[in-house]
Order: sequence, then structure tokens, then C-alpha cells
Amino acid sequence: MKNKIYKFLFLKKINLTKAYRSAYYIFKKRFTNNYLIKSLSIISIPYFTYKIINNIINRKIDFYELEFPITTICSLKCKYCSNLIPRYENPINFPTNVLIQDIESLFGMVSKIYNLKILGGEPFLHEKLDKILDFIIKSDKIVYITIISNSTIVPNEKILNILKNKKIEVKLSNYNNIKELNKVDEIIKVFEKYKIKYQVINNPWFDFGNFKSRNRNIKQLREIFFKCPNRYFANVLFNGQYYICPRSAHGTDLGLIPKKKNEYFNLRSNKSNIEKKEELMNLINKIEFINTCNYCDECLIENPNYNIEVTPGEQN
Ligand SMILES: C[S@@+](CC[C@H](N)C(=O)[O-])C[C@H]1O[C@@H](n2cnc3c(N)ncnc32)[C@H](O)[C@@H]1O
Ligand code: SF4
Repeated sequence: MKNKIYKFLFLKKINLTKAYRSAYYIFKKRFTNNYLIKSLSIISIPYFTYKIINNIINRKIDFYELEFPITTICSLKCKYCSNLIPRYENPINFPTNVLIQDIESLFGMVSKIYNLKILGGEPFLHEKLDKILDFIIKSDKIVYITIISNSTIVPNEKILNILKNKKIEVKLSNYNNIKELNKVDEIIKVFEKYKIKYQVINNPWFDFGNFKSRNRNIKQLREIFFKCPNRYFANVLFNGQYYICPRSAHGTDLGLIPKKKNEYFNLRSNKSNIEKKEELMNLINKIEFINTCNYCDECLIENPNYNIEVTPGEQN
């Protein structure tokens, strides 16, 4: 049943992050004076109900969406990159065997990943992408795979043949201000020829701000975390660790944001699978906010304009 619902959403290209944001904006506009209603969103209620049933009663962990950065190498240097990729001084492609081991290790605890989002950096720059995809496609625990690309690279024939797989969809970012590098039209032509599922994305971008503490109190941090779409749709498996959001993953990895023990989960520890599953479940169920919420403007509660929009793909 869950697979069918997910298939429907995936095939109809329903972007839940967008749906969440729109629902939140509608509630916010209509009931600005009522804190409780303001804080609710259409998606939060089914999300929490599902989470309670699945995690607490069935003792199962499923991920609706999980981001999986396979590289920190990129062909662009975006000023407002949400994954902070241009800040990596020595970017690398993560070794294939390590990436596969991390996914296998996650499978020791997790029953399903409905959409594994492969990204980076630029995923088409990973020279072993074929091997990574071969492994992921074969896994029954992964229902769909989305590859997010900046549309600067036309994949080679070997990759194109793999991308034809029904489980895969490619999201092509369309950055208008990198005209000479943007190959979206060329890629679309090739994808049409190979009958590859794709979607061109022109989503708004936001400035998540600097890396100074915002000095928020616990009440504010809880409110931000509750509203943040990333906690629902952008959990990350990065470099052997599970994080709630990309800013937490990359910000702490780069040493820009202090890393607190209770906001990530180390998949590569020597603990047993039972212990690890318990730890991951505790993190997912009990967390009220993460330290990174104090270093982020994604859900800027202090600002009535909410988010600060910037030009997508603006280069440094
Ligand atoms: C970090 S990128 C990595 C994949 C690929 N390099 C790309 O740019 O599409 C993943 C997604 O985050 C989006 N993104 C990056 N920075 C953003 C920002 N400041 N605000 C909103 N979305 C952002 C990108 O447009 C893309 O859809
Ligand atoms: S947003 Fe820009 S810098 Fe960041 S990974 Fe994508 S293309 Fe690279």
C-alpha cells in the first residue's frame, strides 16, 4: 500500500517539500495570530501519525526521502549552495565500496527508503556512478532513486543506459545565470532519445545565513525545528553518518557549526545492529531541535518575510 502511494506521488511528480511549504504559507497567512494553527501544517499531522505507528508500535524505521551525497566535487561554485560544497578545500569522490558499505549498514536498521536522492556536489562527476547505481537499483529496500544534477554535464552512454531504469528519475537544476555552462537543453534532448525520466527544476533559493550563533532560546529552537521542511524531507546519509539536514551534515563536517553528539548518528561505529537501531530510533523520535537550528535562517522566525530569496546558481 505504502509503495503504491509513493509510486503515485513519484510518478505524478508531487514534490512534498513544496506541498509542505505551500500548506505552511496558507496557514500562516490565514491564522497569523493563532500560534497553534500557525505551527501546524497539513503534512505534519499525517507525518507524525505515521511516524508514531511505524517507529514506536511496529519498531520499524522507514525513510520517505533520504539524501545521499556521493561526492563533494562540483563543476560550479554557487554562492548560496545549501550543501556548502564550494567550501570544501579538498573535494573528493567518495569511494564506491565505502558508499555501498554505508547503505548496507543502514539496511541493518531501516526497512525501506522510498526515495534515495543521489547528489553532491555534482553526481555526474563521480567516475564510478555506474557501479553505485547498479548496487542501488538491485536493492529491494530502495523504492525510487532521484539523481539531482546541476545540468552542466551530459552523462556518458554507459550512464545513460542505466538511467533508463524505471526506478530512476533525474532532476535537472536549471540555473539561468550560468548560460555558457548550462546544458539543460542538450541533456533534455539526449534524455528524450533514451527515454529517461526527468524533471527540470526551477525552485526558489534562499540564503541560510552566516555561521554565527543566533542565540535563540529553547522555545524558538523547537518552533523552528517543527516548521522546517528539511527535517521531514532532507535527512542525509553523509560520510557514514546520518544527519537531520544538509546544513547540519556539511556545516558540522566543515567545522563551521559546532557538532553536538545528539544530532547525528554514526553508522560506522562498532555497536551491534540492535544497539544502532535503538540509537537511530531514539534520535528520530525524541529529537526536539538540533544545534544547527541556531546557525540557520531556513525558517527565520525573527523575520516576518520568513526566507531571504536569492538568485539560484549565482556564482562566487
Ligand atoms: C546542493 S544541490 C546538489 C546537486 C546539484 N549540484 C545541483 O545543484 O542541482 C541539491 C539541490 O539543492 C538546491 N539548492 C542548493 N542551494 C540552495 C539554496 N540556497 N536554496 C534552495 N535550494 C538550494 C539545488 O538547486 C538542488 O536542487
Ligand atoms: S548548488 Fe551549486 S555549488 Fe552546490 S552542489 Fe549544486 S551546483 Fe554545486
